[in-house]
Amino acid sequence: MRMTAVIVMLAAPAFAEELGKASSDEISKGKRLFDGLCAGCHGTEGAGGGVGPPLARPKLARARDDEALMQVIRRGIPGSDMPMARQWDPGEVFQIAAYVKKLGSIPEEKLLGSAAAGRDVYFGKGGCKACHTIQGVGGRLGPELGSIGAQRSASHMRRSIVEPEAEFADRFLWVRLEAGGRTYEGVRLNDDTFSIQIMDAGERIHSFWKRELTAVTEMKSKSPMPSYKGALSAGELEDLVAFLASMRGEP
Ligand code: HEC
Ligand code: HEC
Repeated sequence: MRMTAVIVMLAAPAFAEELGKASSDEISKGKRLFDGLCAGCHGTEGAGGGVGPPLARPKLARARDDEALMQVIRRGIPGSDMPMARQWDPGEVFQIAAYVKKLGSIPEEKLLGSAAAGRDVYFGKGGCKACHTIQGVGGRLGPELGSIGAQRSASHMRRSIVEPEAEFADRFLWVRLEAGGRTYEGVRLNDDTFSIQIMDAGERIHSFWKRELTAVTEMKSKSPMPSYKGALSAGELEDLVAFLASMRGEP
């Protein structure tokens, strides 16, 4: 075991120099590993959408150079949801890192719309404010969108708007509860051993002792967000995506 650890450490810098020169065979092996181990959190082709940030970007804050990228893959990011996926062999780390690096070299998607026009769609026709908060304004049923542009790719946002149930915001869960002969539906806010709290579509909060419940149904991938397919023109959709992409948490 000890021997292996030493070899891995010595081998790493040599690999690092070559990351940009990986063969297409190594990159496609990396892709296969990525699809199995990473895409669930980072999205297909690193486009984002799960708990992990999109990786198809030219600069990664936690992986500024080749060596740092391989380190993140080898060790995960302690204290975050980014795991140490498995005991790696150095060849695999190299392949997967080469693939992630290549994702970053694909030019970022061009935004065709106008953020200013998208703001009007968001606050006007789209009625998005009813459920989403941006800069402290809006409803609370859906996730806060004030820094969505830093977390999600344009294609994820586009799909979220047209097919909310396909591109599902993680950590969001819609539940149906029965208590005292009545049925309640809402977003799960809190769930502990003895009680559960939900917020219904009218933003009313309901709290129950678990022992009062006669049925609980977790409606995985059910979203109260309507699909905007057909409700917005292609141009309006692109404007809206450009507006959301500009939401990067700055006031
Ligand atoms: C269980 C979910 C999960 C899995 C699986 C996962 N990651 Fe992550 N990853 C995260 C999260 C969350 C972060 C952000 C951590 C932070 O910055 O606090 C992250 C961060 C990263 C970063 C740094 C991104 C940046 O902006 O600097 C890289 C690179 C990365 N992951 C690559 C991978 C690779 C490659 C795999 C597969 C071997 C993988 N991740 C598997 C959740 C995951
Ligand atoms: C009736 C309430 C409601 C309305 C109206 C609504 N949304 Fe949502 N939205 C939600 C909920 C709830 C979720 C989380 C579940 C999901 O992903 O579908 C969500 C998710 C999203 C996401 C994905 C967020 C993520 O982190 O992946 C985006 C982007 C989004 N909405 C944008 C919009 C835009 C833009 C509009 C207006 C055109 C809009 N929403 C209108 C309730 C709503």
